[in-house]
Amino acid sequence: MTDTEHPSRVGKAVVPAAGLGTRFLPATKATPKEMLPIVDKPAIQYVVEEAVDAGLDDVLMVTGRSKRSIEDHFDRAYELEEALRAKSDTQRLYSVRESSELAQVHYVRQGEPRGLGHAVLCASAHVGDEPFAVLLGDDLIGRNEALLRRMIQVRETYGGSVVALMEVEPDHVSLYGCAAIEPTDEDDVVTVTDLVEKPAVDQAPSRWAVIGRYICDPAVFDVLRETPPGRGGEIQLTDALLQLAQRKPADGGPVHGVLFRGQRYDTGNKIDYLRTVVEFACERQDLAAEFLPWLRDFVDRHPAAGDDA
Ligand code: UTP
Repeated sequence: MTDTEHPSRVGKAVVPAAGLGTRFLPATKATPKEMLPIVDKPAIQYVVEEAVDAGLDDVLMVTGRSKRSIEDHFDRAYELEEALRAKSDTQRLYSVRESSELAQVHYVRQGEPRGLGHAVLCASAHVGDEPFAVLLGDDLIGRNEALLRRMIQVRETYGGSVVALMEVEPDHVSLYGCAAIEPTDEDDVVTVTDLVEKPAVDQAPSRWAVIGRYICDPAVFDVLRETPPGRGGEIQLTDALLQLAQRKPADGGPVHGVLFRGQRYDTGNKIDYLRTVVEFACERQDLAAEFLPWLRDFVDRHPAAGDDA
């Protein structure tokens, strides 16, 4: 298909970061979970870097209560910069300025956390009538993966919306939206025929779970306006995408999935957060030489629960 058939390019990224983060209390009482550090950078900065790497440098953050720190992080910090400059600490000065120069960051507030679908709806005035990307602010994709770029390509080829799907263990399907899928001519692309939010294992249409990257057709906004609260009393993005999956291209459909087999980290969940910090630290040249030997020794001294010492 050509650009004229699906004329508008994906140019904007929406990063919902207005959730309550209850799984991470009490740390998230006054700090958004998206600001929890992965080594020395907040999770949400990796997400913005991913958007920029995929060519999206217009980023709209959907923030809520106690989200001031997100705005401060992506803004200039003149006093701090001055203090570092006075000490000629150029490396730290660079790291402090980096986040404020990454992208054009905009903000909209979600007054009440009424669900991911509602957070995305809050972006409608900024996004307008263009397809756009949604990147969840606590969901990290490995730095060498080209997932978002691939999803943008799939949108350019097929139109409609695109979700990222990852195969999960059967006992994990109830934590995600799960998709019923049909193959296309491309190995890593499927057509989504059904979506079920957090199904019981025996009701899951597959083990392909929707993870935190989406390309949405702007038709999603009208659908979200009409979407009643679903599971957990929240307006679910999955419910709106299911509507679009059943539509013809002229009405904002269909929905395709990109099958993702790379690295992904859900930093809003404690075990995954710990894994992420350890993995990222082990990949850092400035830390690995000291951290890895300590980690090996620590593991040797702490056999897994149930193992013989
Ligand atoms: P989650 O369901 O993981 O976020 O939403 P949560 O509700 O903050 O987490 P827990 O379950 O209470 O620990 C996925 C993403 O959607 C955003 C969250 O900030 C997160 O990035 N979100 C969720 C919103 O922006 N608004 C909402 O109303 C709900």
